[in-house]
Amino acid sequence: MNNHFILQTKDLQKSFSGIIAAQNINISVKEGEIIGIIGANGAGKTVFVNMITGYLKPTSGKIHFLGNDITGIKPREATHIGVCRSFQVSQVFMTMTVKQNLMIAMSLSKKKGGQLLLPLEDEKLSKECDKILDLYKIKKQSDLIVSTLSQGMRKLLDIAMAVVGNPKVLLLDEPTSGVSVEEKFGIMDIVISALKKSGTTVLFVEHDMEIVERYVDRVIAFYQGQVICDDTPKKALKNKKVIQYVLGS
Ligand SMILES: Nc1ncnc2c1ncn2[C@@H]1O[C@H](COP(=O)(O)OP(=O)(O)O)[C@@H](O)[C@H]1O
Ligand SMILES: [Mg+2]
Repeated sequence: MNNHFILQTKDLQKSFSGIIAAQNINISVKEGEIIGIIGANGAGKTVFVNMITGYLKPTSGKIHFLGNDITGIKPREATHIGVCRSFQVSQVFMTMTVKQNLMIAMSLSKKKGGQLLLPLEDEKLSKECDKILDLYKIKKQSDLIVSTLSQGMRKLLDIAMAVVGNPKVLLLDEPTSGVSVEEKFGIMDIVISALKKSGTTVLFVEHDMEIVERYVDRVIAFYQGQVICDDTPKKALKNKKVIQYVLGS
């Protein structure tokens, strides 16, 4: 392992009762990189994200973050040290307002073990929330109930909720899934520019190759639990294996 990288995996493997969902995963990520993770359904993308963020314990192999071994840590610890995520399905509270959702996420991120939620009327918390709402361009929607928002706006909120703890590495599982064609570039413009501004390293799972081409520095392609290509988007999207096992599917 090399301290030059913010995140590294070494021979990462995950099997479920003998069935291998990920193997030989050796990835080195530099600080500030924006990486697109592609692959057909069932290729192992979410399993990879889950291992990095502590939701799944690898069967074998190592994960290093900032030179420290973080293999098998708990999701809460991962968030605490700056490895955060969003989920394939938005984790927002539909019947609450945009701001209430963000306040809860922020309160949770600041709470220490055993402590109850911090009071949601806290002024400092509220100001911090407003900054994030502003950055993610959903300040005008602060007082709207989430169920009334477009899917794109909901995704923005979901991602805003994932960055409340100022992650160093952010993993997004399909940030544009369910977002309309009209909204997708607008949403990703906002998300990527906010994350670039903060210097956050980003790995995001994406099915839409237009999004991949436009926003990522590097593509990592999965097939049957293994990395079949790790290259620039230009080269990766022309790679024979990628065409056969990812784009063709
Ligand atoms: N908790 C689990 N138990 C058993 N098998 C799983 C579990 N999670 C994922 N898998 C299997 O691992 C493989 C990769 O899944 P996943 O990472 O979710 O794919 P995707 O690339 O679509 O995100 C699939 O064959 C899936 O069925
Ligand atoms: Mg998935």
